[in-house]
Amino acid sequence: MAKPMRKVVFPVAGLGTRFLPATKTVAKEMLPVLDRPLIQYAVDEAVDAGADTLIFVTNRYKHAIADYFDKAYELESKLSQSGKKELLALVQGTLPKHVRCIFVTQPEALGLGHAVLCAKQVVGDEPFGVILADDLIWNDGKSCLRQMSELSMRENGAGVIAVEEVPHDQTDKYGIVDATKVSERAAKINLVVEKPKPDVAPSNLAIVGRYVLPSRIFELLEKTEPGAGGEIQLTDAIEALLGERSVLAYRFEGTRFDCGNKLGLVQATLHMAMQDPKLAAATKDFIRTSGLAG
Ligand code: G1P
Repeated sequence: MAKPMRKVVFPVAGLGTRFLPATKTVAKEMLPVLDRPLIQYAVDEAVDAGADTLIFVTNRYKHAIADYFDKAYELESKLSQSGKKELLALVQGTLPKHVRCIFVTQPEALGLGHAVLCAKQVVGDEPFGVILADDLIWNDGKSCLRQMSELSMRENGAGVIAVEEVPHDQTDKYGIVDATKVSERAAKINLVVEKPKPDVAPSNLAIVGRYVLPSRIFELLEKTEPGAGGEIQLTDAIEALLGERSVLAYRFEGTRFDCGNKLGLVQATLHMAMQDPKLAAATKDFIRTSGLAG
């Protein structure tokens, strides 16, 4: 029987140039959607999927994420002394007690594949997840990564990659798959290519930032040469994996917000405001009465 996924890797070493100047000092994964940073949504998803070990691949300048998940002694004691129990619970609730965080440094920004490879020693010989926190995926029921990890277990440990259709003219922003449908939501990947131009893209089915992968991917990453953009691409190692075992493309249940760009962050913020009973009515009212909706 396949081993369950217990470890999730979060590549968080990126510079977040689309959000400069804010990202001069704020890690892009710390940008908030309402009151929670993007990384919190990602971590909640990993925990929902059964992870107990979170591996952050970071760079030497980014300490905010480690600080965020660390204990905040002074703040906690002040909130506790002043009896602010609800706030204290929020501050202490960023991570369940059974979950541990491990921080690994990516010495050079050589690409997503290289970032994932930095987690090799910590992951060891077991299946693991990867979440790109700037793809925020919201679902009322099971989280996207949980859906994927359950599918992987049912399929004897197969790799599973989250996909969704994107406009044809945007294929050069994504890894794109060619896949043969095997069930309502899953398809067996025949080919995967990183950021193809629309005229040569095999389809418009794009990889979004969720992966469940076997540890074999690390050996393949070690052999992967720089590809699109001169970077070591996870997509290229997955293409190599296809020659050895089947990997499934999975159309997840949920809504994805590309919070790596401004519009996506605005959309996610509005969406979350509409999910919040204290904000939903006032937000709707504002959009209706402000003339913003035209
Ligand atoms: C990365 C992957 C790409 C994937 C995308 C999803 O690209 O390399 O295959 O489609 O994430 O967000 P990036 O956005 O880091 O350039």
